[in-house]
Amino acid sequence: MNFIDLIRKKRDGISLTKEEIEFFAFSAADDSVPDYQISAMLMAMFLNGLDETETLNLTQAMAHSGDVADLSAIDGIKGDKHSTGGVGDKTTLIVAPIVAECGVKIAKMSGRGLGHTGGTVDKLESIPGFKTSLSSDEFTEIVNKCGLCVAGQSGRLCPADKKLYGLRDVTATVDNIPLIASSVMSKKLAGGADCIVLDVKCGSGAFMKDKASAKQLAEKMVEIGRGAGRKIAALITDMDVPLGYYIGNSLEVIEAVETLKGNGPEDLTELSVLLAAKLLELAGKGTFEECKALAMSKIDDGSALKKLAEMVTLQGGCSDYIFDTTLFTRAAYECEITAWESGYISYMNAEGIGAVCVELGAGRLRKEDVIDPSAGIILHKKTGDRIEMGEKIAVLYYSDEKLFENAKQQFMKSVKIGNEKKDKLSVLIEIVE
Ligand code: URA
Repeated sequence: MNFIDLIRKKRDGISLTKEEIEFFAFSAADDSVPDYQISAMLMAMFLNGLDETETLNLTQAMAHSGDVADLSAIDGIKGDKHSTGGVGDKTTLIVAPIVAECGVKIAKMSGRGLGHTGGTVDKLESIPGFKTSLSSDEFTEIVNKCGLCVAGQSGRLCPADKKLYGLRDVTATVDNIPLIASSVMSKKLAGGADCIVLDVKCGSGAFMKDKASAKQLAEKMVEIGRGAGRKIAALITDMDVPLGYYIGNSLEVIEAVETLKGNGPEDLTELSVLLAAKLLELAGKGTFEECKALAMSKIDDGSALKKLAEMVTLQGGCSDYIFDTTLFTRAAYECEITAWESGYISYMNAEGIGAVCVELGAGRLRKEDVIDPSAGIILHKKTGDRIEMGEKIAVLYYSDEKLFENAKQQFMKSVKIGNEKKDKLSVLIEIVE
């Protein structure tokens, strides 16, 4: 097959066959075609789009371009959850133990944070000793013992996506729904779960800033998952304001633990229960309403918290930190930001607040950056709340004194105080199934 002919075909708006799409994806994975030709094809795909069959074929080809998780040694139904990325999103730490406690296995590969969004692997690694780099035998053994395991993605998972995503990032071809959907779903299909719940974020802290594009992305991903024979649903959820009040790696573990104890903030508790319930429903555990009650009961009776602690121990971590979160090392410095006038919080830019956390050391701008597990922000007010001048809006946590001034300026730019009381948005926008 001649790659120039393939580029020409797509450039002229003609759909590619399954074999042609596979040739493209496998050539990207094994570096047998130069980057400039792969990039030209990506631009042709970006400009002319991919139809439903092409999108499914691209997803399957990327999923099979490297290792595909073999979960056959794990008994029962396997579930997975994916978030398109947000600020303060620690739902995996809550949903996974709830669902496992209800008898659906969670054999999950998660990513690290990049840019303003956090990653579950970084959060878990803030627990001393916790290992996210596991062999497939260790991974299977842990799931079989306790019903769940959250590991880092193996370097051989979807190499075609790794290559294509890297090139999309530098050729202005990221923001395209079929390309995003196939990229996300290739990793989910390679992860091997039977049932998948997607959390498609929408708003200032999300990839998709408006509901229409979030819905299009959700529909496309659900269509791919179903085409690949998986049970799948997507929740479109608000990411205009950070989720919960704690942002930063160990801070998010602490808030997740509080939520599993029944003391979590309303938005985080609600979203976690909804995601868990949808996954349980897909796994055949009852109606959505029954599954919501079932999920909630695992918070109320403390069993989901114990399940998280069990996983932490099996993955080499110290579970004392789950039962007593005051053990987490505190950042060397903490400084309050207080309201500069009285009124209502009328706007909070979630992406801006995520960027402040990165500035404080909680995230990374480049893959090789080292993160500070104790850095981050605790919000004391969110959009819609009343605040008086001098009252605390947030506390910033950091380990290098020099970081504060710039972070404070950025934080203040991300928050607006006005006279009008804005209604709090509900966390769930729509369910796509
Ligand atoms: N996340 C992914 O994994 N892929 C994309 O293309 C965008 C976000």
